[in-house]
Amino acid sequence: MSTTSDTSTPARPPCRKILVTSALPYANGAIHLGHMVEHIQTDIWVRFQKMRGHQCLYVCADDAHGTPIMLRAEREGITPETLIARMKKEHQADFADFGIGFDNYHSTHSEENRELAENIYLRLQEAGHIAVRTIKQAYDPERQMFLPDRFLKGECPRCGAKDQYGDNCEACGATYATAELKNPVSVVSGATPIEKESEHYFFKLPDFEAMLHDWIRGGHLQPEVANKLDEWFKAGLQEWDISRDAPYFGFKIPGTEDKYFYVWLDAPMGYFASFKHLCNKHDELDFDDFLSPDSDAELYHFIGKDIIYFHALFWPAILHGAGLRTPTAIFAHGFLTVNGQKMSKSRGTFINARAYLDHLNPEYLRYYFAAKLSSRIDDIDLSFDDFSARVNADLVGKMVNIASRCAGYISKKCDGRLSAECSEAELYQRFVAAGEQIAALYEQREFSHAMREIMALADIANQYIDEQKPWLLAKSEDTAQQAQDVYSTGINLFRVLMTWLKPVLPAMAGEVQDFLNIDAMGWHDCGQPLSDHRIDRFKPLMTRVEQNKIDAMLAQTRDELAAHTATEPATGAVESGPLQADPIAETISFDDFAKIDLRIARIEKAEHVDGAKKLLRLTLDLGGETRNVFAGIKSAYAPETLEGKLTVMVANLAPRKMRFGISEGMVLAAGSGGEELWILHPDDGARPGMRVK
Ligand code: 2FM
Ligand code: ZN
Repeated sequence: MSTTSDTSTPARPPCRKILVTSALPYANGAIHLGHMVEHIQTDIWVRFQKMRGHQCLYVCADDAHGTPIMLRAEREGITPETLIARMKKEHQADFADFGIGFDNYHSTHSEENRELAENIYLRLQEAGHIAVRTIKQAYDPERQMFLPDRFLKGECPRCGAKDQYGDNCEACGATYATAELKNPVSVVSGATPIEKESEHYFFKLPDFEAMLHDWIRGGHLQPEVANKLDEWFKAGLQEWDISRDAPYFGFKIPGTEDKYFYVWLDAPMGYFASFKHLCNKHDELDFDDFLSPDSDAELYHFIGKDIIYFHALFWPAILHGAGLRTPTAIFAHGFLTVNGQKMSKSRGTFINARAYLDHLNPEYLRYYFAAKLSSRIDDIDLSFDDFSARVNADLVGKMVNIASRCAGYISKKCDGRLSAECSEAELYQRFVAAGEQIAALYEQREFSHAMREIMALADIANQYIDEQKPWLLAKSEDTAQQAQDVYSTGINLFRVLMTWLKPVLPAMAGEVQDFLNIDAMGWHDCGQPLSDHRIDRFKPLMTRVEQNKIDAMLAQTRDELAAHTATEPATGAVESGPLQADPIAETISFDDFAKIDLRIARIEKAEHVDGAKKLLRLTLDLGGETRNVFAGIKSAYAPETLEGKLTVMVANLAPRKMRFGISEGMVLAAGSGGEELWILHPDDGARPGMRVK
């Protein structure tokens, strides 16, 4: 089996069969710390299951298909195959260096996946769950390709804002049909798109209404996720377009000349393809044993909350429709924020896994995330002050401290031997007994609670040593044995705690295993203390987090982002912006310009707007007059960071009725959209109401 899996613990009954996945990263971007939340969460859970003696297999793959990957390869002048091979190597190296112990890492662009996608599709078709009909879509006549919504920009048909995506306006929050967009341009070539008809293939999701109704409430989802799905479900299930026209990087749909499976159709199948690839390498593993409808194996998908729809509606329906098993559960988690804000390229907090690894110990982050993760879908925040404080206090100050303060005496004065008998059997058993509660917390993915329990025990171990004062006992021959007993107990308690921490800190646990000179560190291996046992010399297991290392990582991140912006097309990623510079609009007369009354305004209040994805509601003080303005800047600003700041607004824009209320003006912002958006901040010499000339 895999070299990364923990095979040291013999299976104990009842041994569960468990297949686990993390969402497949796209093959056109680097792994960043947002990915790492999920992979660390999954890896901890998997390592825990393995330590408990279960057969738990963890598979993943690169998500290699789709238009952005095709266009990126084209831009780099290489084939998509070359691009995805390079990215896969980088992704695997990043994950390995973070200690992620996949049993297999594959690609959705693989023979196993092609076979699965074709078979599942043909089964769905045979059962009548595929519809074919002609639809109209925007088409780039220059590049000769149909344009997904993200590859189309134009003016909002409601408010006239320029540079809006195909189906919604960031400025006024309106949603509309792509055909309504005014003066549309193709993001790929800049050409004016035309409308063109094409035959598309649809998965008939409404066929599965009854099945999904039961599945959503069948205990497979976290309660908050089930509630959200219920809402979508009540809004009505729609047929899902699963085909794309050539040119497209993907698998051709059987029985067609030039239609391809949409990337999201074959992506989740990639979980199974990776497992199949693993089974092909190991005779003792049987694909059907895990994935047939009557399998007694468990199947879990760890995912981010943004892709619940695909995993909790489409995926179970497809599996059911194709006569395959459905997942035991979907485990969704929240997003990662950095210093309280969305990860942002402009703020330099969009940190790649490699930039972190170049400067900091990966196990700091594994522990920090563990200390924050729960079974809920709340976002988790990486705040660097908190990160240093937590890691230094818990891992260095509490955990490593136990071993370092005990090991010296045992090595120097006892020839490395622990006492022949444990002098604190009760205390030791108390630590061992805590293992069951901690195991239950790991099982439920309540990692932060588990970490709190472990650290509370570490406090008790340190207190015990403080109270016994073995350094005083060591001063007299008469009490030297007692000193050895206390230090030996300390080492034994450390061993138990390190066992409970092993899923989170596998590398440190490996070093502890060497230091303690023990063969195995399975969950059930520490039932008895080590007695009359020789330990190795202590080497520092972990050093403190240093601020200059964090600073160096952030500086590297800023440099990388700057270099990326310089070499990439104007708006950065292929997925999120036009590939060519924004053309300057038609000339206007000075008189036209002079009509615009720009004023300094103070942002008194900034709030989220219920139901609006892009808008913030701003209450603006114009020096005596107050205005209510909806601004499409939510993707770039957390509301609390805006309050009290000065900005510039168009004060004489006619009030506009929007879905969420009346907007009485507009704030000026520049940027390509998303997080790359800046409003103006005049300096403090400015006063609300002043005219901007
Ligand atoms: O959202 C994403 O990053 C997708 N590449 C996840 C795919 S998960 C699974 F369905 F393959
Ligand atoms: Zn608009």
